[in-house]
Amino acid sequence: MTLTALSVASEAFPLVKTGGLADVVGALPAALVPHGVATTTLLPGYPALAAASKGAKVVHHWPDLLGTSARLLAAEIAGHPLLILDAPTLFARGGGIYGDAGGNDWPDNWHRFAALARTAADLASGAVAKQHFDILHAHDWQAAMAPAYLRYAPGPGIPARSVVTIHNMAFQGWFDAGVFPELGLPPGAFALDGVEYYGGVGFLKAGLEAADAITTVSPTYADEIRRAAFGMGLEGLIATREARVHGIVNGIDRGVWNPQTDPALPASYTAGTLRRRLTNKRAVETMFDLDRGDGPIFTVISRLTGQKGMDVLVEVLDDLVAIGGRLALLGSGDAGLEAAFQAAAARHPGRIGVRIGYDEPLSHLLQGGADAILIPSRFEPCGLTQLYGLAYGCVPVVARTGGLADTVIDANDAAIAAGVATGIHHDGVTRDTLIRAIRRTVALYDRPEIWRRMQKNGMRADVGWTASGMRYADLYRSLMEAR
Ligand code: ADP
Ligand code: GLC
Repeated sequence: MTLTALSVASEAFPLVKTGGLADVVGALPAALVPHGVATTTLLPGYPALAAASKGAKVVHHWPDLLGTSARLLAAEIAGHPLLILDAPTLFARGGGIYGDAGGNDWPDNWHRFAALARTAADLASGAVAKQHFDILHAHDWQAAMAPAYLRYAPGPGIPARSVVTIHNMAFQGWFDAGVFPELGLPPGAFALDGVEYYGGVGFLKAGLEAADAITTVSPTYADEIRRAAFGMGLEGLIATREARVHGIVNGIDRGVWNPQTDPALPASYTAGTLRRRLTNKRAVETMFDLDRGDGPIFTVISRLTGQKGMDVLVEVLDDLVAIGGRLALLGSGDAGLEAAFQAAAARHPGRIGVRIGYDEPLSHLLQGGADAILIPSRFEPCGLTQLYGLAYGCVPVVARTGGLADTVIDANDAAIAAGVATGIHHDGVTRDTLIRAIRRTVALYDRPEIWRRMQKNGMRADVGWTASGMRYADLYRSLMEAR
């Protein structure tokens, strides 16, 4: 029997993306098809969706959706059904999807994402004609109020079973208690086991309390968030709901990330034609004004933030160059870090090249041309850039945490002897651990047989969605059976 799922999120590749969340929300529907799950995605009607909504059918109209008028449009995303919440007062504005051009969060984010969640709950409990869903799958805090609406204020039909996926505990959607009366919830919802959180309203917390199942994007992160250092205040809730918590590792979309077919690469290649990567390496040198050379090029493709350990990385760049490395960095984020990386590039012309900004094709070129990708995250729920690195023969050098620990096999002596290594781990994110990891990487690069083997192992590793698509489908089915 086919199951129907409504996936609700604030971003989805290829329509709107600021990070890995979009990649996962964009790829999961196709991964569920072979397991008999038909997914519809619900997204906010940002300006970025204007092209997708052109000619779309209006399937519903709310004269008053939490105080604003809104329409629901039916369109498509990558061949799968898409519903767009067209509410211009909330979503039709310039700037970013979460805040203004200066990086300040929109002050009405509570309203924007409560409306998204209310819509999802309407769809998942029979309040919208002709729409029926077995499963409501909410991603991150922006969608997490949906199960809370199902719990406290459902529509007239049978409510769907609900799943909340935590992509990042660091973003919880906390708002002042003053917003509570505007949410359209009964007074009893403002409770310790409801939506109340530290005296205000916690969107993620509310979702985790209400959901039938909680998932996060790797088994190690599922374990880590039971502890204060990673749970960020929600560790107690996670511990008490432990039986409902599942760690399901992300996959990558092989249609988008495949070095054999990638249009962003000057030279395509496979594990059997790795020499062809040299053409891409030369292109990276040109794009980043790096000296030509045979030594390793490290890359970074990242948000420039503390989570990603970028403040420590920037401190070891002189060492990286002294050890014989070069660096091509693509990223944006914290203004101080952007300036610090640019200063390092100015200190080391020809050795460090920095591109501040967001550039999807360039991120593909870096994976296909650089030798190793540095990911020194303090915490990493899953991480996708190490998976792209594996698939592209760009060896990941990662902090041993979360999904990084789960997906990269460290080149210790035993793993090298067994021929199974795919990358380099370091424990903790300090100057010393990073310098040591960079040294180890350069030493391994200088042993071409081992290095090639690592590249090939990574390229042959199973980092697609097949296994995890099945795990999500199994979870959905188990929730239906438990009804
Ligand atoms: P997070 O979602 O925490 O930022 P992930 O590793 O899960 O980390 O996903 C990041 C995604 O964003 C990847 O697809 C990565 O390639 C992409 N990305 C990050 N920074 C940039 C950038 N500056 N330009 C292009 N793509 C980027
Ligand atoms: C978040 C996490 C990242 C994860 C992504 C997709 O942005 O920071 O680790 O890969 O979500 O699940």
